[in-house]
Amino acid sequence: MMKQAVSVLLLLGIILEITGVAAIQLRFMPDPPTLNTYGTHRMNKSDNLDLTCRGRQRLLWSTPPTSTRLSTSDCSGSGLFCLTLTITNATVNETGQYQCYYKDLKVEDGKTAAGIYVFVHDSKVPFVPSEKEYEVVFIREGERVVIPCRGSVENLNVTLNTNYPIKEIHPDGKDSVWDPKKGFILPTHLISYAGVVSCQTRIKNETFKSPLYIVAVVGYKIYDLTLTPVHQRLSVGERLVLSCTAHTELNVGIEFNWTHSGGALNLGSGFHTVSHKKKLWDSLELSNTLIVENVTVDHSGDFTCTASSGQMEKSASAYLTVFGGCTENILLHNVILIKKSQEMDQGGSNSLV
Ligand SMILES: *[C@@H]1O[C@H](CO)[C@@H](O)[C@H](O)[C@H]1NC(C)=O
Ligand SMILES: *[C@@H]1O[C@H](CO)[C@@H](O)[C@H](O)[C@H]1NC(C)=O
Ligand SMILES: *[C@@H]1O[C@H](CO)[C@@H](O)[C@H](O)[C@H]1NC(C)=O
Ligand SMILES: *[C@@H]1O[C@H](CO)[C@@H](O)[C@H](O)[C@H]1NC(C)=O
Ligand SMILES: *[C@@H]1O[C@H](CO)[C@@H](O)[C@H](O)[C@H]1NC(C)=O
Ligand SMILES: *[C@@H]1O[C@H](CO)[C@@H](O)[C@H](O)[C@H]1NC(C)=O
Ligand SMILES: *[C@@H]1O[C@H](CO)[C@@H](O)[C@H](O)[C@H]1NC(C)=O
Repeated sequence: MMKQAVSVLLLLGIILEITGVAAIQLRFMPDPPTLNTYGTHRMNKSDNLDLTCRGRQRLLWSTPPTSTRLSTSDCSGSGLFCLTLTITNATVNETGQYQCYYKDLKVEDGKTAAGIYVFVHDSKVPFVPSEKEYEVVFIREGERVVIPCRGSVENLNVTLNTNYPIKEIHPDGKDSVWDPKKGFILPTHLISYAGVVSCQTRIKNETFKSPLYIVAVVGYKIYDLTLTPVHQRLSVGERLVLSCTAHTELNVGIEFNWTHSGGALNLGSGFHTVSHKKKLWDSLELSNTLIVENVTVDHSGDFTCTASSGQMEKSASAYLTVFGGCTENILLHNVILIKKSQEMDQGGSNSLV
């Protein structure tokens, strides 16, 4: 009997402990916010829409960059935070992704955030306008590119048009597709020659064009990186010149970064750099030279140059030894001391050995 009572108590204790742990976890990771409507919402232009979000912590809404006809109101109550986003007299510009998230937590859809996609139908404006007059789309070889001509309506037959040469690309439904929420998605090689592209669609007899997109091909490959000279010995007051040189494919931009003995190198405190760019036949030579006019003993150590093209990074290292007048004196002094003690050893007792 006693034993049973004890084990029941133990069990109870364990259960209490588990629920306690669960409660703590709940406090740190609340349930995701809830919305009054999910998925995709379709509305006509000039209509209004209320999106209500409830949750256990303070809430915020993120909205499409082009949207302006918005207002929020607090609807908190019965122990829950609540924030209503109202779209008034909607236009195509209000088309896009709306996301409600906990203000103080990392945004993760389904965990700390909930979203809905809104289409505002306007048969006169089938493509969502751009924020800017034109947009630049950077493309890289061997990838798929998204030309962000989003739609205000879903079921459109959209083509991608290039002007030089005049060409019309139809989605094949596999490699190239038009997704009204994202835009025209296709392999880069289909448009890498084109400077400017736009999406087009026909509604009844009328042709509509999306904003223009400028296509810029960018490279990223760094073939090699060298830092020279690899090992250098200088005396205090001499000039240090370290050249970091990268060979890359064309259309690559490089950011150079230096570290000294593992720490960030503070440019300006005696260090300065000079950059050069040279176009070779089918590659680029980009260099960044680190210069110190008067080296000191503190400049001794490892230098590492890192070149980054965004998608690729390479590093190279070199070692510098600086001999100072002061250090030389100490060295000399030590040598004399050692000599003296050796003489003493030879002349006197062996007690020091
Ligand atoms: C949008 O307007 C059309 C007619 O212009 C109507 O048939 C349709 O039901 C409306 N849709 C919504 C979601 O109100
Ligand atoms: C809605 O916006 C249009 C312009 O886009 C304007 O002409 C109209 O008066 C607005 N309607 C209301 C009710 O504010
Ligand atoms: C939509 O946004 C674009 C760019 O910000 C602007 O030029 C245009 O006038 C807006 N359209 C409406 C209906 O508000
Ligand atoms: C899109 O094109 C297909 C085939 O050409 C046609 O059957 C369909 O009706 C078109 N859809 C629209 C919305 O124009
Ligand atoms: C569309 O074009 C055809 C032929 O060009 C014409 O017969 C028809 O009237 C046009 N329809 C509209 C709505 O403009
Ligand atoms: C350059 O170095 C700084 C400081 O170490 C670092 O914060 C930064 O991310 C580096 N940039 C690149 C492109 O490596
Ligand atoms: C370098 O040291 C020399 C002699 O100490 C001094 O005259 C000169 O101004 C220094 N140069 C720089 C750039 O600090």
